[in-house]
This record gives sequence, structure tokens and C-alpha cells, in this order.
Amino acid sequence: MTAIDPGPIGSLRIAPSILAADFGVLAAQVQAVDAQTDWLHVDVMDGHFVPNISLGPPVIKSLRPYSERFFDCHLMMSDPGRYLEAFAKSGADGVSVHVEVGGTKNLISDARALGMRVGVVVNPETPYEAAAPFLADIDYLMIMSVHPGFGGQSFIDDVLEKLRRARHDIDEGGLACDLEIDGGIDLHTAPEAAAAGANVLVAGSAIFATPDPLAAAAAIRDVALRARA
Ligand code: DX5
Ligand code: ZN
Repeated sequence: MTAIDPGPIGSLRIAPSILAADFGVLAAQVQAVDAQTDWLHVDVMDGHFVPNISLGPPVIKSLRPYSERFFDCHLMMSDPGRYLEAFAKSGADGVSVHVEVGGTKNLISDARALGMRVGVVVNPETPYEAAAPFLADIDYLMIMSVHPGFGGQSFIDDVLEKLRRARHDIDEGGLACDLEIDGGIDLHTAPEAAAAGANVLVAGSAIFATPDPLAAAAAIRDVALRARA
């Protein structure tokens, strides 16, 4: 399977998180926001790294024929390495692994060997320094702005500083790395995150828990673009 290209590095990307969608009609929900979707954010929770269980490769495989967007699979798992091949086979275009689980260097090379893009994720309490050494080797750095495991939480403002530092290092080093923010993104926090340097914005509740998810995604794009101008 040929992986889908993530698009121009550094450009603004909106990534609806399907965690907030209705899983009973998942394909329809994904298609409803397609026109305002750049990456589709797929939250995988193993009930161990985080206290919740969501979905895995079979759901990704089922969803794959319904979307041509870059599937950005966020692996909230204690042992992501064990499942990388299953994700690649199911149609994941990119996987992000939490730096907190360790073995990051090997996970990056294993994901690449399977033909996927790869990102590293840091939890709100994890210092930026834990991820910085990997910046030159990854396609995207993802900063968590909520504690992983649940949608619908409030954005933790303290992580803005991490975004600024990462953006500085990416630009200064001329690195081919996108900067993604995940958690509590809405019309108020999207501009803040974009101004601090994030270029991939994940939003779950602020898109799917609204009466018009497509319009909600468009509005987030709009305010973020204005903040970058
Ligand atoms: C949290 C997930 C997020 C979450 C975002 O563990 O990684 O992707 O779905 O949801 P909102 O936008 O509702 O915070
Ligand atoms: Zn996520």
C-alpha cells in the first residue's frame, strides 16, 4: 500500500480527531468533514498507557476506503513496537509514538522501514528536552496540550512555551519537521497554538461535538490562518 503524502512541511493543517466522532457512523462522519480535513487524527488507546480503550488496526482498515487523507495515528500505547506492522498493513500513513514509553530511536527506524511517516509525542508534564534530540529524525513532533486518554479536556496553556521552543529549533535547524498540537483546540486556543508555532492542529470535540462539524473545522482553520499572518 502506498502511503499518502502529508503535504508541504510547515503549512497549516487541520486534523479532526475521530475520537469525538460517532463510531457507529464513523465513515459518514469522516466524509462529512473531508473538505476541511488535511490529516485525519486517529487516537489509539490501549487501556494501559492511558486509562481508556478506543480503536486499533481493524477500524483503520475499515475506514481506509472512505478517505484519501493522511491517517495520522496517535499511538497511546505502552508497547507500540509490537503493533507497527499491523498499523502499516491497516493503512496508517504516519504513527506517532510517545517518548515516555522509551525505545524511541528504534521505533522511529522501525516505522520508517515499514513505509510510514513517524512522529514523536510528549505529554504535558514531559519536558521539551526529552523530544528535542529526535527532531532531525522525525516527520512531526506532537505536543500534548491535555493529558492523553480522553477528549474534551481544557487546553493547558503551559505547553505554549514548548511549541515556541520547538518552532525555534525546527526553523533554526532548517528541519523537515511539522509541529502538531493535540488537545483542547478550539476557536480560542487554535490561534494561540498557531501563533506559538504549531502548524498541525488536532481538534476533536470542537469539530465533531458541534451541530455542523464541517463549518466548525473551517472556522478553526480560519482563525489559525489569521494568527499565522
Ligand atoms: C487525547 C487525544 C486527543 C483528543 C483531542 O488523548 O490524543 O487527540 O481526541 O480531543 P479534544 O480536541 O476534544 O481535546
Ligand atoms: Zn491524539
